[in-house]
Amino acid sequence: MAGKKKEILSWALLFFAVFTLFASCNKTEDNNKEDEQKNGIILGFSQIGAESAWRKCNTRSIKAAAAESGVQLLFSNAEQKQNNQIKAIRSFIAYQVDVIAFVPIVADGWDNVLREARDAGIPVLITDRKITTNDETLYAGFIGTDSEQEGREAGKFLVQKFKNSDASRTDPVRIIEISGTEGSSPAKGRAAGFREIIDECPEYKIIYSESGDFLRSKGNEIMRWILASEYKDFDVVFSHNDGMTLGILDVMNERGLNPGKDIVIITIDAEQAAIDALGRGAVNCVIECNPKFGPTIMTLAKKLAKGEEIPRLMHVHEEVFTEDNNVESIPPRGY
Ligand code: AHR
Repeated sequence: MAGKKKEILSWALLFFAVFTLFASCNKTEDNNKEDEQKNGIILGFSQIGAESAWRKCNTRSIKAAAAESGVQLLFSNAEQKQNNQIKAIRSFIAYQVDVIAFVPIVADGWDNVLREARDAGIPVLITDRKITTNDETLYAGFIGTDSEQEGREAGKFLVQKFKNSDASRTDPVRIIEISGTEGSSPAKGRAAGFREIIDECPEYKIIYSESGDFLRSKGNEIMRWILASEYKDFDVVFSHNDGMTLGILDVMNERGLNPGKDIVIITIDAEQAAIDALGRGAVNCVIECNPKFGPTIMTLAKKLAKGEEIPRLMHVHEEVFTEDNNVESIPPRGY
C-alpha cells in the first residue's frame, strides 16, 4: 500500500512540474507580446503603386519586414497619383503615427505636407525616390537607390562596348533613351548620370528621348512609334527600367530585329526577366536597382520613433550585370 501511495505522489509531482513549466512558458509568451505592443511602433507608409515587378517586390519587402520586426504598418497605395500620396500622409498625421515613410512619385511639391508632419512632431523617412526642397529639415533621411550612379554605369558600359567592338567607327553612335516617369528622381538621375559619361565623347548622340512612365505598355507603344518614324535607324536603346525594356523587346522580336546583336540594349532594375534576356543575348547590360530594403526601413523607423538620429543619405548596394557575366552565377532575383 505504501508503495502505491509513493507512486501516486510521484505522478502528482510530475504533473505539477509539467503544468508549472507550461504555465511559465505561456506567461513568457504573453509578456513578450505585451512588450512588443508596448515597444512596437506605428509606421504610415505611402507607396506609389504597382507599376512594375520592381515596385511589387519593394512592397513585398516592406510588408514582410514590418511583420517580422513587429512594426504596425499602415500601408497606402497611391495608384500613381501624387495627390493620393499627399492625402495619405495627411491621414497618417491625423492618426498620429510614430513615423511616416513614403516613396515620392515625383521630386517636387512636398514642402507643404512635410511641414504639416514636422509641426505635428512626426519624423519623415524618404525612401526609393528623392525629393527636391530648399528646407532640408523637412525630412530625417533618405534610404534607396543611387540613380545617378545607375545612369553612369549605363554610360560606362556603352563607351566600353563600342571601344571594344568597333575602334574604326566614324559614324555617330545613335542612342534612343526611354526614360522613367517625368519629374521623378530616378528618371532625372539616370538621365543625368548617363549624360555625364557620354557627353565626354562627341560620337555618342541621343537622337530621341521620351518618357515611358516606367510602364511596359508605354515602352512597347513608344518603340512602335519610333520604328515608323524618322528615328527608326539607331544603334542603342537605353531604357530606364526593365518593364519598358520588355515592352520594347516584344516589338523588336515581332519586327524580326535583333536586339542585343544589331542593337545594344541597356536596362535598369535587374528583374529576373531581364536577366533571362541577358542570358539569351537579347540584352547587353542590366544595371541592378535593388528593391529589397524593407528591413533597413524598419530599423531606421524604429530609431526615429525613439528620437535617435539616422544618416541623411543611405544608398543600397547595387551591381552591374553584362553580357560578359556568367548568367548562371547570378542569384535568382525574386522579382
Ligand atoms: O523608383 C524606382 C523605379 O521605379 C524602378 O526602376 C522602376 O522599375 C520603378 O517602377
